[in-house]
Amino acid sequence: MRSRFTFLFRRKLKLQIITTSLTGGLVAGYIFSKYKPIVRAEADISVKVGERISTLPTYSMTEVAKHTTAEKGYWLAYKDGVYDITSYVENHPGGKMVLRSAGKALEACWKIFTMHDMDHVYEILEEYRIGNLPPGEREVNQREQEKITDLFQYDPERLNIKENFFVRSKRPFNAETKPSVLVSSFITPVEQFFVRNHMHVPFVNINEYKLEIGNGKSTHSLSFDDLTEKYQSHTITSTLACSGNRRGAMNNDEQGTIRGAPWYVGAIGNARWTGVRLRDVLQSLGLDKEGKYVQFYGLDCETPKRCYGGSIPIEKALSDDVLIAYEMNNESLTRDHGYPLRIIVPGSIGARSVKWVNRIVVSDKESDSPWQIFDYKLLPTSVKQPQKSDYDAAPAIQDLNVNSAICYPSSTEDGNKVKILSVQPNHNDIKNKKLTIKGYALSGGGKQIQNVQVSLDHGKTWLQAELEQLAEPHMRAWAWTLWTYHIPFDDLPSKPFDIICRATDTNANSQPESPVGIWNVLGHMNNAWHKITLQIDEKCLKKGS
Ligand code: MTE
Repeated sequence: MRSRFTFLFRRKLKLQIITTSLTGGLVAGYIFSKYKPIVRAEADISVKVGERISTLPTYSMTEVAKHTTAEKGYWLAYKDGVYDITSYVENHPGGKMVLRSAGKALEACWKIFTMHDMDHVYEILEEYRIGNLPPGEREVNQREQEKITDLFQYDPERLNIKENFFVRSKRPFNAETKPSVLVSSFITPVEQFFVRNHMHVPFVNINEYKLEIGNGKSTHSLSFDDLTEKYQSHTITSTLACSGNRRGAMNNDEQGTIRGAPWYVGAIGNARWTGVRLRDVLQSLGLDKEGKYVQFYGLDCETPKRCYGGSIPIEKALSDDVLIAYEMNNESLTRDHGYPLRIIVPGSIGARSVKWVNRIVVSDKESDSPWQIFDYKLLPTSVKQPQKSDYDAAPAIQDLNVNSAICYPSSTEDGNKVKILSVQPNHNDIKNKKLTIKGYALSGGGKQIQNVQVSLDHGKTWLQAELEQLAEPHMRAWAWTLWTYHIPFDDLPSKPFDIICRATDTNANSQPESPVGIWNVLGHMNNAWHKITLQIDEKCLKKGS
């Protein structure tokens, strides 16, 4: 009975999973909205999201529940507030897709709105405000919401979060490693490794777990033990980096706000991955002869047919080091990092290394997952409000590009927000009268880093950093390079000054000076020179003299 329901979404339609791609869409909907709500609350950040605004009209939940179609628009209620999110749903390709496939866009949107801890998501919701619920309906509404908002109840317990990470969102969990932690070891410990989840962490019963591998004509089903016992194990050291790493630095007033989590430099880590070669498995099942792509799907699904997925070209899939991995740093994968099995595609963007993989398909087509056909694409700088044709025209990103970042010294605060970093040189530096600068560098597709240089004069002159890197076979350099440079105290100005780093790979690819020329609305692949501004504690400099 509809009237019994005090909120928009009926429980029997409960989805199992949500997607953050819709969050991006929400932002998009907000910025580029075509359709305006019928009555709009002025954007006033002093208004607490969902609190009653006496000047707005009242709509009952029965009224709200009538708005579930394109014709009538899409409404939802949060706390005391009523919102018309039609423009959000209409403007986001992901939103539309859910709408078409299951008519459940609103549930997905609702969950985004209610589950994200990202303050700006709530601020954006308030932009869609059209009214209030009648007094008394808020509490019942909230009780109903609570029943559907605990999809994350099986997420793993996470320890020492504040010490190691800047958390970008709690639900789904997205956290980047703090810069100084990143460069404290060549292999990033699992508990310090960044986490990028688009949805909740699936709960896997290993006794029931099956990995399906097929090509549309035949499908094979392997248990975890089948896979680990029948195939030879293979270990690689590979950096996993999100293509959105360093996205935060792409934001600027002239070109516009970038969509997606504003990662600083820490959506990256370097680990030892053990598993079986994808090639061995495909060959043993006779699946290596046909097809142009290999698609991977995870157990984190929004609807039974819409799970996180991605694909890579068959040539890459059949190369030496693509893994179906079960260990990270010699331990079983943790739940956040894909237990029991994940794909590792070294040299490619992290998005293709599908976690909780339970389905592999050899096909003539790329995966049709939104994360392949929309999210992880590099759109031209001119595209500010992407349409389907823009996505269709852009290839899915595969290989990483050459990149580097300064990680030490660094602040314990979110690096995006730190304008000038006050530094007290450590004991060793004072003794040696040199300031230590450290960072990482990497390239894509197996290319090794040839050099990293730092500049103290905005790129007029460059100084060679010392490199720490593995001796890896030609075009199989999957691990990052850590680098160090010591600046003599005598060369340090007493006022704030900039340090810049830049890496070059063995194919002579280097980094562009500024993010302006590579700006793209989805904020991928920012590899501009990394700059930090330091102010050295003068007393320490004197101690060294
Ligand atoms: N696989 C699944 N199933 N679901 C996801 O959300 N995120 C991808 C990739 N694989 C993701 C996934 C992205 S965008 C990245 S950058 C990496 O996983 C992050 O891996 P990590 O969380 O182990 O660091």
